[in-house]
Amino acid sequence: MSIIEEAVRKTAERYQRPTPPEQSGGRPRLRRVPPPAADTSNVRRFQPISLDRAVLEENYILPHITDPGALRAYKILRTRMLRRLDANQWHSFAVTGATAGEGKTLTSINLAMALAQDSNTWVFLVDLDLQRPKVADYLGLTNSHGERGLTDFLLGDATFEQIVYSPSTAERLAVIPNFQAVANASDLLTSPRMDELVQALEAEKPRRIVIFDMPPVLASDDVLAFSPQVDGMLLVVAEGTTGRDALRGAKELLQEMNLLGVVLNRSEAQDEGAYYSYAR
Ligand SMILES: Nc1ncnc2c1ncn2[C@@H]1O[C@H](COP(=O)(O)OP(=O)(O)OP(=O)(O)O)[C@@H](O)[C@H]1O
Ligand SMILES: [Mg+2]
Repeated sequence: MSIIEEAVRKTAERYQRPTPPEQSGGRPRLRRVPPPAADTSNVRRFQPISLDRAVLEENYILPHITDPGALRAYKILRTRMLRRLDANQWHSFAVTGATAGEGKTLTSINLAMALAQDSNTWVFLVDLDLQRPKVADYLGLTNSHGERGLTDFLLGDATFEQIVYSPSTAERLAVIPNFQAVANASDLLTSPRMDELVQALEAEKPRRIVIFDMPPVLASDDVLAFSPQVDGMLLVVAEGTTGRDALRGAKELLQEMNLLGVVLNRSEAQDEGAYYSYAR
C-alpha cells in the first residue's frame, strides 16, 4: 500500500470515529460549526481590491484558467472538500505539503477561488507562510500604498479590518495577504495576537470556510504549532517531486491531525493538461 493510500485509509478510519471533544484550556479555537448558511445577507465586506487579470492569467489563477482538465480538477476538488467539511461539520483547514515548491500556495488560492464561485460559499484565504509569504505576489497585490498584511497585524501594527481584502471580481472571497516575511514564525503563530486573529475569524462563522496557506510540514514546526487551531489538513504532493522519505516524514507528523485529503499536483496520470488529481 502506498504512503498516500495509507494516509488516506487512516483519514477514512478517522471519519468513522466520533468527533473528539473540544480541547479544554484557554486558547481560542476555530470551532466545528455547520457549513456556511445560505443566508449571507449580512456577511461582512472588507477593503475592496481589484485584481489584475494579466497577473492572474500569468500565474494560472482562477477564473483565468482555460485548460479544461485543470478546470475540471479544481471543480472536483471543490466539491469533495465541501462534502468533507460538511460531513464533519468542519470549516477550516490548512494546506501543507512535505517539501518546498509542491504547489501548496497555488492550490490554496485556486481552491479558495473555486469555493467562492459557489454561490453559497464564503471563503477566507489566509497567507500563513510567514517565512515565505507568496499569496500577495500570486494575486498581484503590493503594499506600495502602505497596505497592511498579516505580519503587521501579528506585530500589533494593524487591525483586523486593515489586513482583510475583498477582490471586486470574487465578492465571496476575503484574503489576508502578507507583505513582510519573518524569521520567528512559530513564535508568532502561537502568540496572543494570533489568538486574536483566530477569534476574529471565528466571529465570521458560520458563513465562511477558512483556508490557511502554510509552509511544508518538514521545513519548520509552523504547521505543528498552528495545527490545534484548524479542523483539518489538506496535503499537496507533487508527482515526480515529492520523495518517498519526505512523504513518510510528513505522514508521521500529520498522524495526529485530521487529514482531509491529498492533492496530487503536476500529475501526468490524468488526461493531458490536467494539473491536479485528487487522491482518495
Ligand atoms: N500544477 C502545476 N503546474 C505547473 N506549475 C505549477 C503547478 N503547481 C505549481 N506550479 C508552479 O510551481 C511553483 C511553486 O508553486 P507554489 O508556490 O504553489 O508551491 P508551494 O508548495 O506553495 O511552494 P513553497 O513551499 O515555496 O511555499 C510556482 O511557480 C507555481 O506557479
Ligand atoms: Mg507556498
